[in-house]
Amino acid sequence: MAERLKNFINGRWVESRSGRTFVSLNPARKDDTVAIAPDSTMTDVDDAVKAARAAFPAWSRIPAPRRGELLFKIADLLSRRKSALGRLVTSEMGKVLPEALGDVQEAIDMAYYMAGEGRRLQGETVPSELPNKDAKSIRVPIGVFGCITPWNFPTAIPAWKLFPALIAGNTVILKPAEETPACATRMIELIEEAGIPAGVVNLVHGFGKTGEALVTHSGVDGISFTGSATTGRRVEELAAGAHKTCSTETGGKNVIIVMADADLDLAIDGAVWGAFGTTGQRCTAASRIIVQASVYDWFVARFTKAAGRLRIGDGLKSSTQMGPIVSQAQYERVLDYIAIGRKEGATLLRGGRPYSKGAGKLGWFIEPTIFTDVMPAMRIAREEIFGPVVCLFKVETLVDAIALANDTVYGLSASIYTRDVNASARAERDLDTGLVYINASTIGAEIQLPFGGTKATGSGPREAGGRGGALDLYTKWKVIYRDFSGTLQRAQIDKE
Ligand code: UN1
Repeated sequence: MAERLKNFINGRWVESRSGRTFVSLNPARKDDTVAIAPDSTMTDVDDAVKAARAAFPAWSRIPAPRRGELLFKIADLLSRRKSALGRLVTSEMGKVLPEALGDVQEAIDMAYYMAGEGRRLQGETVPSELPNKDAKSIRVPIGVFGCITPWNFPTAIPAWKLFPALIAGNTVILKPAEETPACATRMIELIEEAGIPAGVVNLVHGFGKTGEALVTHSGVDGISFTGSATTGRRVEELAAGAHKTCSTETGGKNVIIVMADADLDLAIDGAVWGAFGTTGQRCTAASRIIVQASVYDWFVARFTKAAGRLRIGDGLKSSTQMGPIVSQAQYERVLDYIAIGRKEGATLLRGGRPYSKGAGKLGWFIEPTIFTDVMPAMRIAREEIFGPVVCLFKVETLVDAIALANDTVYGLSASIYTRDVNASARAERDLDTGLVYINASTIGAEIQLPFGGTKATGSGPREAGGRGGALDLYTKWKVIYRDFSGTLQRAQIDKE
């Protein structure tokens, strides 16, 4: 039985004023409707923004350590519900259960981490140049935040946005992806259960136009968006036009470099995990693998064999290693890219087809797909595919590998496998990405450091992490000078 979902506005669960709904399907069994969700209008968004604005003064004045106590409670509830929530992530989004549990764990980690930030949130206290005067900077919340989240990490990414926003004293409206409304609803129910005051966190379901209503609403002060590069660019333009604080995290064309001296078995494991983990539906997924010429043939043979051994199916089955594609639209998009690659003249080494063996017919499955003879100018080498499709390249030197790795409009994640300390140091310095991995795959960033990338991967302060990361997005600086001399003191002028 499909669950009926509602919006959460001002502490109450309400229908959309539109009366319209949409469904979220289980991608492994597309005749299984997971939930029916409200398709929200501008008026629903307006209700949520009004609630968030009204809740802001009181929430922002609660001492941050007290707000932190609420986050500890949320972390605890998330931990207790981890297994049920993980199963829901698999049913609604498709990733295999161990990865779905990892998704929830990332939300738990973020809740604990940000709860602790409530007792830090440091600014600076510095000496004044004048006597009897002090000078300090403090972090203050931005106000009302609109958070727009994707389907591929349906609990972790809402957590990346909500928890730092809340610890900093902002109030929030979450617009989750239309593919995963049930996961978002479960998170918000849990936040409600922890005792969040009415209006501090609001949930509005819907599609792009609901998100756009949030981005353009004059009562929203900040936007945090994770999703496609095209939508991200539009969000940036709209936010800039209205002088809103904005952070976008969008695409990647992430790369693994395999040098001949590497631990090659480890590199194979990392390549399979990076390319086909989460069915390639991570913004950090490895979609390009660059291999040094002397080991290229060996690598291609072994990698192809390993990809062919992956067990595809429903992620709730414990034997499954790779789940489905999230939706019909994404499934068609990935198949289109495979057709484009063939038309462009790349060699389809394996996969490239829907996987329809056994229960495969019931869902949107695509075989792990490997292309060779890929030219850097081809679309499959340049555009984000977001599926289990990887392009292999052969190079002679580290310099060539790094140049090819950087030859992309994106800059999220890059990895190098090598035992040569000098090569790893050069890669670390020269790869133009927000994340660099040495002897590890391109996926698996941890929440205590900033997450994000360069170039078209996004703009604004990074997500996750504390200072230098999410706290810089969800707070603004206020500088306070207090002169207790009782006389007129003129900075820069009164010297002696
Ligand atoms: C994403 O795909 O949008 O680093 C986020 C990783 C995960 C987060 C991915 N911790 O792969």
